[in-house]
Amino acid sequence: FTIQNQTVSESCPSNIALIKYWGKYDNQIPANPSISYTLNHCKTNTTVEFLANEPFSVQTFLAGNEETQFAAKIEKYFSNIEQYLPWILKGKYVIRTENTFPHSSGIASSASGFGAIAKCLMQLDGIFSGKTLEEESLRKASFLARLGSGSACRSLYNGLVVWGECQVKESSDLFAVQYPDEEIHEIFKDFNDWVLLIHEGQKSVSSTVGHGLMNTNPYADRRFQEARENFGPMKEILANGDIQQFIKLVEHEALTLHAMMMMSDPAFILMKTGTLEVINKIWEFRKENGLPLFFTLDAGANVHLLFPNNGSEETIKSFIEAELLQHTQNNGVVKDFMKF
Ligand code: PMV
Repeated sequence: FTIQNQTVSESCPSNIALIKYWGKYDNQIPANPSISYTLNHCKTNTTVEFLANEPFSVQTFLAGNEETQFAAKIEKYFSNIEQYLPWILKGKYVIRTENTFPHSSGIASSASGFGAIAKCLMQLDGIFSGKTLEEESLRKASFLARLGSGSACRSLYNGLVVWGECQVKESSDLFAVQYPDEEIHEIFKDFNDWVLLIHEGQKSVSSTVGHGLMNTNPYADRRFQEARENFGPMKEILANGDIQQFIKLVEHEALTLHAMMMMSDPAFILMKTGTLEVINKIWEFRKENGLPLFFTLDAGANVHLLFPNNGSEETIKSFIEAELLQHTQNNGVVKDFMKF
């Protein structure tokens, strides 16, 4: 290794899970496999300035503002991954990061954030070691991102991505892999995810605490088993293009995630009344219109609206504007919406 001052930049998108990861073991090993769509419209851009031969420290700026709490988190993270990157504690880091989606949107950015940092670290590793191992370094970036935030490991690849050992080829608990393209029906290759903004600001319970509460949740084992079992139908659906079954499975996964929160001790609820209103409106719309419009949820109140990109965009936009969006003519609960 030749360690020297260096500045690298990387960009990484966010992702939304279809089969959810909720519950983990030591060292960020997931309790069940998960699959997600990578969301190419919202990214984190990160620049890492590495100052060799200075004492180890981390300084972070989010959208130009210094964030000491985030820096402390990154310092801890870097110490954790020293065994995989032996040079990592040998310098000072100035990390500047910004999201291409509104900062105040209440949308979690840990997946894209840790994904971008992991890619920067692999770029530095490549420079310091003189190696350029494209394929292998992507996998290692996914491995490193996982140790920062579990779901981040899925953000390193485009399209449908799997994390956790399951029937999918080469899948692993240690890093994510891309779902085999030849096993995906055309309808699932161009999909829209629009985030309906219902609540901004901090979540009442972090995902770290939420994962932890699965350890004492009496339904946890059944849930982990169900998620594993759901890969069977999911594989079939992705191959045969059965959108109705896809909708059923994806919505069930979202509601199960939140049901697990309600059945935790202490119980917590991250949905807001607006979340439930939007879900009901989506169900009404689907019944009346027959269009494959459906939802999923993250660990938060905002609703991810999913639909194939096949010409229904204008109809769906009109539905959002007329029924969901807050304006003077109605009492809509959605503050804003954006293409993710
Ligand atoms: O990556 P974490 O630890 O923030 O966990 C995120 C978990 C969910 O977003 C709720 C589900 C998932 O699979 O992404």
